[in-house]
Amino acid sequence: MNSNIHLKFLFILISLLILGLAQGDPEPLQDYCVADTTGQHSFFMNGQPCLDPELTSPNHFATSALSRPGNTSANQFGFSVILTSNQNLPGRRTQGLTLARVDIAPDGLVPPHSHPRASEVATCLKGDILVGFVDTSNKMYTQRLRPGESFVFPKGMIHFLYNVDQRSPAMAISGLTSENPGTQIASIATFTSQPPMPNKVLEKAFQIDGQEVTRIRNHLQG
Ligand SMILES: *[C@@H]1O[C@H](CO)[C@@H](O)[C@H](O)[C@H]1NC(C)=O
Repeated sequence: MNSNIHLKFLFILISLLILGLAQGDPEPLQDYCVADTTGQHSFFMNGQPCLDPELTSPNHFATSALSRPGNTSANQFGFSVILTSNQNLPGRRTQGLTLARVDIAPDGLVPPHSHPRASEVATCLKGDILVGFVDTSNKMYTQRLRPGESFVFPKGMIHFLYNVDQRSPAMAISGLTSENPGTQIASIATFTSQPPMPNKVLEKAFQIDGQEVTRIRNHLQG
């Protein structure tokens, strides 16, 4: 090939990139999609097929799922998250969004966690919440949120929400940019996975001994 053809090809490629016509694969909508090679040809998108448009109604696009507080005593951290889902808000399917109601008990914590498929913006509606995230250069960002104030957690970054008030509960509403954001709580994922992560891995990763691994495991499973 002469260099003239190379140049022409490069020019076309750059034009396509600028016009946004050359695109990569769409983002995954779930943790994984194991190919169905059984020949049954069933099509599921995040677990369900789609409803016939003849059968849809306004209530499919409405929900009161976030109208009541969740139970912040259900875990040892003192938080509750209620999400809009394909069950409680069927019309949100394929719209690429999720809402979350986050209730946090006095001194309660939504522990460091990440959403592999979504950016998040949290708005404090009640109380006094310390929020923060760590970026991939290990830089920490924190902010105190009072009612009406919002904060963005960039996609995939580890973040937390802590109710600094020792007496009053706090509440926030979050918007997430995926129909299936996914959540991994760092401590839970590393210490309570099934089957468990090998003790040796945890000992080395956290620079602790086997007894400490067992102690943390028991506390988190508690
Ligand atoms: C909240 O969760 C705790 C612990 O699971 C349970 O004992 C309590 O009854 C629950 N409260 C409500 C109102 O459901």
